[in-house]
Amino acid sequence: MSERKVKLAIIGVGSMGSMHVKDLTSGRVSNAELVAVCDIDKAKADRFAAEAGVPAFYDYKDVLGMEGLDGVVIATPHYDHTPISIAFMQAGKHVMTEKPVAVHVKDARKMAAAYEEAKKQYPDLKFGIMFQQRTYGFWRKIKEMIDGGDLGRLMRATWIITDWYRTQAYYDGGGWRATWSGEGGGVLLNQCPHNLDLFQWLVGMPKRVAGFAHIGKYHNIEVEDEVTGYFEYENGMVGHFLTTTAESPGTNRLEIIGEKGKLTFEDGKLLFDRNAVSMLEDIRVSTKPYDKVEHSLEEVPFTHHGEFGHRFMLENFASAILDGTPLIAEAPEGINSLTLSNAVMMSTFEGKTIDLPFDEDAYEAKLKELAANSTFHKVVREGEAKDMSKSFR
Ligand SMILES: NC(=O)c1ccc[n+]([C@@H]2O[C@H](COP(=O)([O-])OP(=O)(O)OC[C@H]3O[C@@H](n4cnc5c(N)ncnc54)[C@H](O)[C@@H]3O)[C@@H](O)[C@H]2O)c1
Repeated sequence: MSERKVKLAIIGVGSMGSMHVKDLTSGRVSNAELVAVCDIDKAKADRFAAEAGVPAFYDYKDVLGMEGLDGVVIATPHYDHTPISIAFMQAGKHVMTEKPVAVHVKDARKMAAAYEEAKKQYPDLKFGIMFQQRTYGFWRKIKEMIDGGDLGRLMRATWIITDWYRTQAYYDGGGWRATWSGEGGGVLLNQCPHNLDLFQWLVGMPKRVAGFAHIGKYHNIEVEDEVTGYFEYENGMVGHFLTTTAESPGTNRLEIIGEKGKLTFEDGKLLFDRNAVSMLEDIRVSTKPYDKVEHSLEEVPFTHHGEFGHRFMLENFASAILDGTPLIAEAPEGINSLTLSNAVMMSTFEGKTIDLPFDEDAYEAKLKELAANSTFHKVVREGEAKDMSKSFR
């Protein structure tokens, strides 16, 4: 292992970026150090720069040529992930972007193409994304079980993730939030990228998507705050994704059904109801009209670090730069969760099921139209100071 520390700048030091600053300055990331902060809000940039003893920048373009800089972590509002990532990769700097990779798939593809282009000149360039939940022990255990064949052929995956409760004060607390022009979406784009990423990471991508999203149903916002997504897979598996920011206490329950049993994760417990024989086989061969397949319930042990996980992602990003350790999440993989999110919205807007790959140009055009025709009056109110730790799942 190299003794050298990777030199990183944080672009955007708001709620999330300031946590990355803390992780990098507290010594909790063993192989990386903070060398600059950048924010268009001068006061913020100056404050964090002074606290960390690093230079402040107010325009990311001024960071591009910084001597000795290895890479950046981008924690700006989502639309800016695209131009900022591309600019740094073109300058040969490693990039870790916050989730979602972009607002729409068209932008994400531009980023992936820029990465491929930049790698021709800088073959060791890294482009990661902050999907820190991929480090959580229970999701890793579920992935291990699915990939290892414990469930056999997958038949249904249902995620009820309705514990992303947000009040109006949350939405009023930031000018860019929950607007078509500033954020480009609601619960699917802000709260759910982690869940949608895990969904595709665990069970893959569907071929068809239907969505029923409600715009500002429980909040005074112009984007979606309650969503039902329905996914159909090549092998016949079906998926359901139910989310909202309007349920308290809400539910976080993932059920994955395979021919060999039912895996559920809820309230920190992973349970596997294991079938003695394949239920698909049993459906075919059993002579008993009503009897269920013999099954036994077991609690599945797993180890979990118990943290939010961002610092492990920063450490992994730095290791990838230093010694080629594989990234936990490559940024172009963010296209999958974004596809699910965009397709659910497209299905809602068009009132029909969407085949994947879908018309990504049409979705970008729709977002532009929504932003251009918006008559929504955004109210920004100073709320209580945000405690970001309450926002993570
Ligand atoms: N991984 C996670 O768990 C997680 C959690 C929260 C937020 N996020 C992501 O982090 C990003 C930021 O969210 P937030 O809640 O911190 O928002 P925020 O509004 O609190 O902070 C954004 C900061 O970026 C600055 N900014 C805006 N445009 C900029 C630009 N062009 N250059 C430099 N600075 C700029 C703003 O002044 C602000 O300080 C979003 O993409 C969000 O999805 C990720």
